[in-house]
Amino acid sequence: MSALVIVGAQWGDEGKGKVVDLYAPYADLVVRYAGGANAGHTLVVGGEKLILHLIPSGILHEQTKCIVGQGTVIDPAVLLKEIRALGERGVSTLARLLISQRAHVVLPHHKQVDELREAKSHDAIGTTKRGIGPCYEDKVARRGIRMGDLLDASPLGTKLEANLDAWRPVIEDLGGTLPDSTSIQTEYAELGEMLRGYIGDATSAVREAVQSDGKILLEGAQGTMLDIDNGTYPFVTSSNAVAGGACAGAGIGPTHITRAVGIAKAYTTRVGGGPFPTELDDDVGQQLRDAGAEYGSTTGRPRRCGWLDLVALRHAVAVNGLDEIAITKLDVLSTLPTLEVCVAYELDGQRLSHPPYERIDAVTPVYDTLEGWDDDLSSCRARNELPVAAQRYIERIEKEVGCPVGLVSVGPDREDTADLKDPFYS
Ligand code: IMP
Repeated sequence: MSALVIVGAQWGDEGKGKVVDLYAPYADLVVRYAGGANAGHTLVVGGEKLILHLIPSGILHEQTKCIVGQGTVIDPAVLLKEIRALGERGVSTLARLLISQRAHVVLPHHKQVDELREAKSHDAIGTTKRGIGPCYEDKVARRGIRMGDLLDASPLGTKLEANLDAWRPVIEDLGGTLPDSTSIQTEYAELGEMLRGYIGDATSAVREAVQSDGKILLEGAQGTMLDIDNGTYPFVTSSNAVAGGACAGAGIGPTHITRAVGIAKAYTTRVGGGPFPTELDDDVGQQLRDAGAEYGSTTGRPRRCGWLDLVALRHAVAVNGLDEIAITKLDVLSTLPTLEVCVAYELDGQRLSHPPYERIDAVTPVYDTLEGWDDDLSSCRARNELPVAAQRYIERIEKEVGCPVGLVSVGPDREDTADLKDPFYS
């Protein structure tokens, strides 16, 4: 068997969805292992745009089964909407989509608390307000509601009451009103009923795929720099986005993971608050935003844009144990006469090759300037078809971070990809 992890190597939005979509035809099973409806990937199905937040984009490939794993947090109404939207476009999910009974449920008061905190805090994280943080808080506090709980009405009521009791002082302190437990119970039991055919034993499904020598693609969400342990804490999400998160979040042992591929944009973006050393608050930043259509697919927020941060990428190579990097959106850099890449940070007169524990907001990026290119890259299907300056740019990335670049994406469509290979036999 082989299991490949796809992980975001920056601050999320690296284009993981496109890579998963390209790799899914080679996989028997795709398992999403972390995060929730804070993520978003825009797909074009039957000529129409569709944004998936929870279901892996592998669902578009008929022979591929998909799991939303135990490490995720699920808003059942969002999930149902995605299942229906796929159905309306002729994509059948029944018997191909399994939702882990162990995944935690995002409840209405998780979203309420997320919104109230963001509105009140002077140091807002800039969350997606999808209730992700409060839901993971419940999970760690061992009072969460899991997808399996939605299928059994009587314990659900008791668990919900205990859960709401824990949130009462928090919500009141934030000036909110505690929602009514009976109406949540009714609504969520109904949602559970509608999802009954999907919720099940994902642990066994993953184990069977391992035992039957299957090809498993483990799909991360967000990115390394947003990981709760490895990112720019506290400006992070509440889960382990890194490759290691795939073990716990999908229920697969580390010895079964055969390859880790990090996805990185050819420049850097970030949404929400928090440090961003290479941020460009100028015309070049705006040019990247326009050329790269850098607006969040979940919240529509304009993304902050900046030069490629090789310090962050070096960190991602290390903490994910990356075998390979896939570079996306290289085409967005076309026409810029010169390109800066951040090769180190300076902090208190010291040169750093890896991100410091804190005060990342105080570092000064050290840049090297590389030559740009004018050419349209969209027809390049192999690295040696790229303009020489673009080839040099990629070689520089490899040299600085000590990891080979495999696939290079040169446009939004599936075909706009150089060096696509079967990822299970690279
Ligand atoms: P949360 O995950 O909604 O709690 O948000 C925490 C931080 O992670 C915020 O800065 C969000 O903007 C960021 N974030 C969460 N999900 C994504 C994503 O899918 N792409 C990029 N940033 C994200």
